[in-house]
Amino acid sequence: MIKKIAVLTSGGDSPGMNSAIQSIVRIAYNKNIKVVGILNGYLGLCQNNMITLNKNNTSNILNRGGTILGTARYLKFYKKENREIAIKNMKKKGINALIVIGGNGTYTGAYKLYKMNFPCIGIPGTIDNDIYGTDYTIGYSTALETVVQAMDKIRDTSCSHQRISIIEIMGRNCGDLTLFAAIASGCEFIIIPEIPYNEEKLIFNIKKNIKLGNKNAIIAITEKICNVKKLAKKIEKKINKETRSTILGHIQRGGSPVSFDRILAFKMSLLAIKLLLKKQFGQCIGIKNNKIIHYDLKHFSKSKHKKLKKKLIQLVSNLY
Ligand code: F6P
Repeated sequence: MIKKIAVLTSGGDSPGMNSAIQSIVRIAYNKNIKVVGILNGYLGLCQNNMITLNKNNTSNILNRGGTILGTARYLKFYKKENREIAIKNMKKKGINALIVIGGNGTYTGAYKLYKMNFPCIGIPGTIDNDIYGTDYTIGYSTALETVVQAMDKIRDTSCSHQRISIIEIMGRNCGDLTLFAAIASGCEFIIIPEIPYNEEKLIFNIKKNIKLGNKNAIIAITEKICNVKKLAKKIEKKINKETRSTILGHIQRGGSPVSFDRILAFKMSLLAIKLLLKKQFGQCIGIKNNKIIHYDLKHFSKSKHKKLKKKLIQLVSNLY
């Protein structure tokens, strides 16, 4: 019988994590289930750092970015002895199940706990939208808005100064955020990890674009592909046109969640609690073709990232 559950947020924070926390507390309360919040992800779980969550202390958080529980990247959780401590801490507090909100690493941690017979459910929370099995993750849509707004602003100044502007976008090894932000803001060039990076080709195409009469251009590029400052200098030298680079950085992870993320958080939390009540553990929640679904956490026994559709990659390679 599920009487008390714990919730934690782990890995990079994402807008909407608080919405999920509030939804979990509200839905659990309705089912007479108590909720404990673990502070700072798996690190807090091992340190026995827990608080009681109730309708009062979660009443004003739904619209706030970040996570009131705090988060961490705690790689030592891969050590079995630390997971044993975590399970002991939860059992001592009478916790019957754990809901984790986070990305790939968070899911791997949850799967490992589940394999040690502790009931776990995963809810996807990351701006990268790189989790296998789900079309969207909580936080992605908000980050997309943030990036598009920033790009629109950079376009204003890029256009006034007739410059080339390079904008570096987060995503770790996934080009999803870059790709859709670039489409939404009408970027001239898109560079994502899924398409082999070819600097010569980029410079050739920028020259071609200028010859066609375009006086400015925006290049959207996912982080970790190249040093954008150095790239700007190179382009400036080779094309003889002022070029600037902007690394959007952590503004992409903050801010009040957009309605889509808040509602997604609610729907996913609802299914998470339903699964717990049905004793269907070792699952994670997703959304596929507009339907909230669940599937096995075992896919994440090792980090497993979502891949962009081949057709989409092909289309982008042809158009940009
Ligand atoms: O996973 C979310 C993310 O923001 C990635 O896009 C990025 O590569 C990484 O986290 C940055 O992590 P940190 O804030 O620990 O530097």
